[in-house]
Amino acid sequence: SWTSGKVIEEAVELVRERVGNERVICGLSGGVDSAVAALLIHKAIGDQLTCVFVDTGLLRAGEREQVVETFGNHMHIPLVVVDARKRFLDRLANIVDPEQKRKIIGEEFIRIFEGEAERLAEKNGPIAFLAQGTLYPDVIESTSHDTAQTAKRIKTHHNVGGLPDEMVLQLVEPLRMLFKDEVREIGQALGLPDEWVWRHPFPGPGLAIRIIGAIDEERLETLRTADAIVIDEIRKAGIYRQLGQAFAVLTPIQSVGVMGDGRTYANVVAVRAVTTGDFMTADWARLSPDLLGKIANRLVNEVAAINRVVYDITSKPPATIEWE
Ligand code: XMP
Repeated sequence: SWTSGKVIEEAVELVRERVGNERVICGLSGGVDSAVAALLIHKAIGDQLTCVFVDTGLLRAGEREQVVETFGNHMHIPLVVVDARKRFLDRLANIVDPEQKRKIIGEEFIRIFEGEAERLAEKNGPIAFLAQGTLYPDVIESTSHDTAQTAKRIKTHHNVGGLPDEMVLQLVEPLRMLFKDEVREIGQALGLPDEWVWRHPFPGPGLAIRIIGAIDEERLETLRTADAIVIDEIRKAGIYRQLGQAFAVLTPIQSVGVMGDGRTYANVVAVRAVTTGDFMTADWARLSPDLLGKIANRLVNEVAAINRVVYDITSKPPATIEWE
């Protein structure tokens, strides 16, 4: 029968066998999969593991601090935090098209991660493995994917000729036999705080695809604050775990409002909350009118840039969960 203790023991043994005395790098996203992968690998090989967390500036409120607190201070896992906020903001200036946003963010992320891997290798010696939080469903989706033969090529730029050199990293994927609910159970057993274990998925491009239209620092800050309010109220209502995802979307629409004895002209924010099994289909969550009212009140009272709130009542399909 399945017990988290047994699965952890087996995974630790496999990681030790595969990695030996080599060094491993692991990118943390803030999500549960990469967190559990990192914890398992750290349990197996200790400080041969270095975790890298890239602050893209497109994260939710407090996310970077939580990563530092949990992994650095609490779990004592070697952790490098890369502050890339300005790089992302510069590259995203005036970009409106959702797919272009995704492309830029993906490319920039890989470039930064590669640079960090190269820097770590130069500083502490060669890195042989890249850890990934690949789950069993991802494995079946991409069938010809076999760990023993899979490697990531990381471009490095230290050679004098100016042409990129290559660092070939083997993959280590300790979750590739597991489903999501098993990963959560293992995370819990390894001491991952509840808040991480049950966290809603968050897209790689982050808040960038929840700001409809062009992104700037001010709009990011508006959305970050709004998102934190939505999540806070949903947690207080005790329904966070029943929802697949819940978040705010900053629309490009300005609307007229009235505040005190003045007229306002400010942003419309949409609230999205869905229930779903597999994220391929989803239903809009029947949040109570009381809860919706509380959320709307707090958004307009606490965020000066917001003067109107709407609730998204479309299911997927025909709508998607995200707005972009
Ligand atoms: P949609 O909007 O397609 O979202 O219904 C389904 C799930 O995928 C997430 N999502 C993404 N995740 N990069 C990601 O890593 C992306 O570009 C991306 N777009 C959507 C979304 O949050 C939801 O969980």
